[in-house]
Amino acid sequence: MTIWTELLTHAEAVKTRRIAELFENGNRAAEFTCESGPFLFDYSKTNIDAAALDLLVRLAEDADLAARREAMFTGAKINETEGRAVLHTALRNLSHPVCVDGEDVMPKVRKTHARMVGFARDVREGRFTGQGGAITDVVNIGIGGSDLGPAMAVLALAPYHDGPRCHFVSNVDGAHIHDRLKGLNPETTLVIVASKTFTTIETMTNAETARRWMAQTVKDPAAQFAALSTASDKTAAFGIHPARVFGFEDWVGGRYSMWGPIGLSLMLAIGPEQFDAMLRGAAAMDAHFHAAPLAQNLPVLLALVGIWHNQFCGYATRAVLPYDQRLSRLPAYLQQLEMESNGKRVSMDGADLPYHSGPVVWGEPGTNGQHAFYQLIHQGTRVIPCEFMLAAEGHEPDLAHQHLLLAANCLAQSEALMRGRSLAEATEIMRKKGLTGAELERQARHRVFPGSRPSTTLLYPKLTPEVFGGIVALYEHRVFVEGVILGINSFDQWGVELGKELALALAPVLEGTSDGAGKDGSTRALAARVRALRG
Ligand code: F6P
Repeated sequence: MTIWTELLTHAEAVKTRRIAELFENGNRAAEFTCESGPFLFDYSKTNIDAAALDLLVRLAEDADLAARREAMFTGAKINETEGRAVLHTALRNLSHPVCVDGEDVMPKVRKTHARMVGFARDVREGRFTGQGGAITDVVNIGIGGSDLGPAMAVLALAPYHDGPRCHFVSNVDGAHIHDRLKGLNPETTLVIVASKTFTTIETMTNAETARRWMAQTVKDPAAQFAALSTASDKTAAFGIHPARVFGFEDWVGGRYSMWGPIGLSLMLAIGPEQFDAMLRGAAAMDAHFHAAPLAQNLPVLLALVGIWHNQFCGYATRAVLPYDQRLSRLPAYLQQLEMESNGKRVSMDGADLPYHSGPVVWGEPGTNGQHAFYQLIHQGTRVIPCEFMLAAEGHEPDLAHQHLLLAANCLAQSEALMRGRSLAEATEIMRKKGLTGAELERQARHRVFPGSRPSTTLLYPKLTPEVFGGIVALYEHRVFVEGVILGINSFDQWGVELGKELALALAPVLEGTSDGAGKDGSTRALAARVRALRG
């Protein structure tokens, strides 16, 4: 029997077991918890037992995880469909050499980092100004990995802001840039065009719009533009001076890029020292992931719990529920990180996967979600594994009582999901309210919680830059481990191409300069109706 089959068999055998029962013997809370640096990861409220854990670790070993991990950290071209190394970890290592094609990439990484620091200081300390004075606002124009990471980070680290205000524009919908630029003074605004390829239609269209907006009041708009890209020829063609172009290499994937130039807006907001603290936190997680044994390795355990739920228990989605308002963009960030990385239907060698790709990831911060979709998590017919995240304390000492309430809610939810409420308990509650007979029975049934619903909790002291860096690196490595176990390439994204191509071909149909020959009837009819409605 293969390990995969053993796991399927084991999952089937234990599927009706109550998670709460697992706490009856031994010290499960300690045994199914892993700690590293500031993090404690509790996965005891899942149906994973010692046998399942052992099999899952063997599954990771069997997938050659240790060797694949080494290959990633040492610059091997593990992104095989694009022939690229995967070295976002180099952006936060800043110490030891890392070679790609026999060349140490670190001198260049350090040089770019130093240039970012210099520029950030110049802006923050007023040496680089707009044509109307010190920079008050920064507009980052980018999409996907060139937006989600820095946008999430700027919000997450709001207590550390002491630089210009940062705004993010991503959508090609003109409403986005219109609303963001409204009220800004072009003379004191810095526009950052963030695009790895510098060809992404949304970003380039918004960048042109921003340039036109600035040109209305500013003599030399290009002087207030910076670019973050691997394509220096294209940034030059756009007219951005090389002094304000921050380049990176193709071994940094878009969704893994906030640690380098793509993080410039964050560095401007919080300053180089706090930015470096975030890098240190991520580097500490890298070191842990690189060295810790698989069974005590946080990213590996997160991945194994994920694989268990998605592949062996058949739970198709996973909810990420940070009880940390400032992590409210984390679910959106993880949607790209996880679904663009592991949403693949073929393995590395092009064969169809004999199992599912990675899960659907979604979520919202608590407690907001409690008043929206938790109903379905508690009483719906599908099981949704939940990933809770919680800081022991907030940044607002005056509001510590609110943080306590937040923490109580977080712990209460995982407890409620596991414990549930039986029909007998629900009946007793309703009986005390005076109900009897058929009405008692009917009302009680609505108040039953099946329970035994799995969740994990990631606990950390406070959302500092170090901790935030560690959280993001933790998830990056988790995605990598899941990809290795599934045998897929987590670093390409061919699935986004078809829609882009078709959109380009449809623009002339909407303009009326093409009749849409070759398009299906529905698409042609919808295009015709859009044309008619637009007059
Ligand atoms: O369309 C998907 C994608 O290529 C993402 O992988 C990437 O993060 C995003 O578009 C933006 O790409 P770029 O940074 O090249 O503009």
